[in-house]
Amino acid sequence: MVDPSDKAGFPHHMIKEIFEQPQGLRDTILPRVSLEEAAVKLEDIRIPADDLRTLRRINIVASGTSRHAGMVGQYMIQELVNLPVEVDYASEFEYRNSLLGPDEITVVITQSGETADTTSAQREAKARGSHTIAISNVVDSTIAREADGVLYTYAGKEVSIASTKAFTAQMAVLFLFSLYLGQVRGKLGKDQRRHLLRELLEIPNKLDPALECAEQCEHLAETYLKFDDFLFMGRGIHYPVAMDGALKLKEVSYVHAEGYPTGETKHGPLALIDEHLPVVILATCDRGDPGSVIRYEKNVANIKSFKQQGGRVIAIGSEGDAVLPKLADHTVLLPQAPELLLPILEIVPLQIFAYYIAVKRGLDVDRPRNLVKSVTLE
Ligand code: AGP
Repeated sequence: MVDPSDKAGFPHHMIKEIFEQPQGLRDTILPRVSLEEAAVKLEDIRIPADDLRTLRRINIVASGTSRHAGMVGQYMIQELVNLPVEVDYASEFEYRNSLLGPDEITVVITQSGETADTTSAQREAKARGSHTIAISNVVDSTIAREADGVLYTYAGKEVSIASTKAFTAQMAVLFLFSLYLGQVRGKLGKDQRRHLLRELLEIPNKLDPALECAEQCEHLAETYLKFDDFLFMGRGIHYPVAMDGALKLKEVSYVHAEGYPTGETKHGPLALIDEHLPVVILATCDRGDPGSVIRYEKNVANIKSFKQQGGRVIAIGSEGDAVLPKLADHTVLLPQAPELLLPILEIVPLQIFAYYIAVKRGLDVDRPRNLVKSVTLE
């Protein structure tokens, strides 16, 4: 029986849970993968394969960090399965009069499985005739019990209010779900599946070196401790990671931070960027992916323009990058990985940065003011 008060020698649950991510990913991924058969096995999905074959659209509904995972999942599913995906705030879902049709499913994502907004959104979707699949980190939670199918994350009990290890496990489950849909719908051949599964199985091992940036992130927190506003940026699948980096900083350190699509900054926020507003930009690159290289080059151009107007830039890049360290004020380099899996590595330095800013500000990292772990009120 896990003793929730046990911090395993760490000063706080948040940093303990950040360092538990490699194991949470192994526990979430390994039971569902057969490299031999190049197959994904989703035991509790309970939606007939025929229904998945005739799907016309997927709606993802969630709150907070879980919604950011859903946004990452949207890129994965659309890229790998070519199936349209919409992502909604659970708290807004009922107002959007979402026109759910028979050939659609609704995926609800939740760490706790008890969030009231997400519970209501699932009930709303079912009332409108949609099948639902719940991605939950708590077995037999309300949302899991009420769903037609379930995909559990096995990140382990998350005690700290700021969600960290559940987020990376959710992104891994969404990648598995994308491969499973590709498998069932005949969109992904065996070789392609085996290649992608091998890359996914590598991610937990790449998280260990990614966690080695902890000391550098502590120094960055020291350097940026006095700033009261931050802008986090990313393009494509990296944008939701920027959103979550901003959310982590907001919720544990009470510092104002915004996540923004990098390309959108020239339509307004660029006016804000000067020596008083640090920019954290996700500029990793999968050299084997032409789209990733194009995004990288655009990010490099953005960094140059932010620097020209006196901005302070923290860049998150990929190991072997010799350009970013010359351009940005600070650069954190992460192991190489395929474009669709980079988000699972990229969030780590952002989690640790937020953690150390909060610690150095003397705040209650695990129990931030005005927040609860499971928001059971609408
Ligand atoms: C994230 O760090 C927050 N604790 C919060 O935004 C959370 O993600 C949100 O309340 C959703 O919770 P759930 O995943 O348990 O449904």
